Amino acid sequence: MTSFRSRSSRPEGGRSATGGGPAGATMSRGASMTSSVQPNSAAEVFEQAAAHYDRTGVSFFGPFGAELVRRAGIRPGDRVLDVGCGRGAVLFPAADATGPTGRVTGIDLAPAMVALTAEDVTRAGLTHVDVRVGDAQRPDFPPGSFDAVLAGLVVFLLPEPEQALRAYGRLLRPSGRLAISTFAAHDPAFVAAMDALAAHLPPDWQRPAPAADPFADQQAITATLAAVGLTVATIGEHRVESRFRDIDHWTEWMWSHGGRALLRHIPADRLDAATADAARALEPARVPGGGLTLTTAVRMTVAVPRAGVPSS
Ligand SMILES: C[S@@+](CC[C@H](N)C(=O)[O-])C[C@H]1O[C@@H](n2cnc3c(N)ncnc32)[C@H](O)[C@@H]1O
Repeated sequence: MTSFRSRSSRPEGGRSATGGGPAGATMSRGASMTSSVQPNSAAEVFEQAAAHYDRTGVSFFGPFGAELVRRAGIRPGDRVLDVGCGRGAVLFPAADATGPTGRVTGIDLAPAMVALTAEDVTRAGLTHVDVRVGDAQRPDFPPGSFDAVLAGLVVFLLPEPEQALRAYGRLLRPSGRLAISTFAAHDPAFVAAMDALAAHLPPDWQRPAPAADPFADQQAITATLAAVGLTVATIGEHRVESRFRDIDHWTEWMWSHGGRALLRHIPADRLDAATADAARALEPARVPGGGLTLTTAVRMTVAVPRAGVPSS
């Protein structure tokens, strides 16, 4: 997850690939991959996680997605783009908010995410929603197409987030808004557990050079958005408490999201020891009666096009 600062937070390159959900401890390490997904990219991690992502019975992506939609002020009839839609944590609340007079389009680079979410859309009978493979770095739509662009826990995964944000600004109508969520703070026990796992990475594992984080805090986010012609309207934090039955449940959740970007680099013969160390680090999160509770804070930012800024 992106704001996590230890070496384990950036296992795949310049930016964290650990922004999202669980894949399940039983998921194969070499799950299917299609040609639209680059090896070792953030999207590849989520392609492998798709079947279990946000499906491990842990309250995490759902409440953050619903809150982002609430803060974006989506109205009936709105046309909405959800970039990096995953399994629909943002998409489905957005579809509720627009109602059938609006339209919601979800794009994701991981074909398995798209296929599974499209099945859920069809099952729910949502004829005003479509989901397709598409790159959140370069969304391919005509300028001024949307009342809102939503990006839930995805912008920090992109290779060039500033360029992507500029593109989102171009997609907005003059009265439109962009809503993004980024990590603000992880539970200290979670950070300690990630460090415990990272200690088991192979010695030759390359630690990426630290990159400046354009979403580090409110000031950085405001400056990043201003640089691409967007003005922050509201910015605030939302906290979610996630409960886990036990360490196995936590490990299952870790494999089901971006956490697998770290886990998959731990040699198979070290995974048990790594998990045992993580379990010790998670002890402070143990609650009376069993189980673990972790609290995560996510920053929610809503921005609008700055008047007079040309769209290209
Ligand atoms: C942390 S998940 C967030 C999913 C969803 N928005 C949510 O809140 O649960 C990040 C998602 O972004 C997708 N993703 C990563 N890079 C992408 C890119 N360049 N273009 C589109 N989707 C991308 C991943 O496949 C994954 O589904």
